Amino acid sequence: MNTQMLMETAKAMVANDKGLLAMDESNPTCNKRFAALGIPQTEEARRAYRELIVTTPGLAESINGAILCDETIWQCQDDGTPFIKVLINAGIIPGIKVDLGVKDMAGHPGEKITEGLDGLRERLKKYAHIGARFAKWRAVITIGTGIPSRGCIEANANALARYAALCQKVGLVPIVEPEVLMDGGHTMEQCFEVTERVLRTVFNQLYNQRVMPEGMILKPNMVLPGLTCPKQETVEEVADATVKCLLRAVPAAVPGITFLSGGQSGELASARLNAMNVRFKSRSPWALAFSFARAIQQPALAIWKGEAMNVTAAQQALCHRARCNAAACRGEYEAAMEGV
Ligand code: 13P
Repeated sequence: MNTQMLMETAKAMVANDKGLLAMDESNPTCNKRFAALGIPQTEEARRAYRELIVTTPGLAESINGAILCDETIWQCQDDGTPFIKVLINAGIIPGIKVDLGVKDMAGHPGEKITEGLDGLRERLKKYAHIGARFAKWRAVITIGTGIPSRGCIEANANALARYAALCQKVGLVPIVEPEVLMDGGHTMEQCFEVTERVLRTVFNQLYNQRVMPEGMILKPNMVLPGLTCPKQETVEEVADATVKCLLRAVPAAVPGITFLSGGQSGELASARLNAMNVRFKSRSPWALAFSFARAIQQPALAIWKGEAMNVTAAQQALCHRARCNAAACRGEYEAAMEGV
C-alpha cells in the first residue's frame, strides 16, 4: 500500500475549500431523472449530458474531483477525447463509483444491502490503470418502525470496510458513504441517534479491516429531520447537530468529510454546509466539504432538457451551484448569491 500517495490524494480531494461533484448516477437513476424532464433515455443522451458537465468552463475553480459511473468512465467527448482525460486536463481528479447498487436485504423487511464485493479487486485494478484515483461505495440505511436493525447496519458497515481495504491496496482512496435516508417522518433527534450508531459501527469495521483513516474520505448524510416531519429545524440547528454527531464518531485522522445532498434543495444544502463552516471551521479536525449530485446538477439538467442550444446556460447554472458550495466551504455563502 502506498500510504503517502493515498494521504496526498485524500487531502487533494478536499483542498482549498473545494469539494467533489457526484455525476455517478446509475443508468436507471439517470434515466428516471431524464424521463421526468422529457429527455430521451439513451446511452447517447447520457453521454451528451456528461460531456456538458465535464466541459463546463471554470468548474475546477470549485471542484477538486468528479465521481463517474462505469458507463461514463469509458466514454469520450465529441472529438474523441476520453472524459477521464478531459477531467485530468482541467485539473479535476477522476473517481469511480464501484458498488453495484442496493438490493432488498434477506430477512430484513424494509432494509437494503449494497452489493458488489465479488470481483471487486479486479475491477479496481482496471479503474486505477486507466487513471482513476479514488472510488465510492454507498450503503443505505432507512429509518422506520423498528429499523434500522443491527443486522443491516453491521452487514453494510462490513461491506464498506472490505471495499475500503481493497481500494487502499491498489492505491485508490475510498469514499465511504453510509447514507441515512431523509425519507420519512422521523425527527432530527432520531436521525442523530441513527447516524451516530451507523458511523460508530462503520469506523469500528474500518479499524478491524485495517483501513488507514488518513487515506480515506467520509461521505455522510447531514443530520436532518425527515422530509415529512412537522418540525423542521433551522439551518444553524442542523449544522450544530451534524457537527456534534460527527465529532463523536469520526476519527480526527480522517482528512475530509464530503456530505451527500440526499434530496435537499441546492440552496438549503449550501446554506447548511455554510453554517457548519461559519460555526466550526476554525476548530474542526477535518475539512467540511461537499460531494453533491442533485444539489449541484438539478438546475443545470432542468435547463439543458436534452437540447444542444441550452448547453451554455446549463453549464452556467452548474458552475453557479458549484461556486455557491465552494463559498459554503469557506463559510462565505450568502442567500444573495442566488438572486442573479
Ligand atoms: P445526492 O447529492 O444527490 O444525494 O447524491 C450523492 C451521491 O453520490 C449519492 O450516492
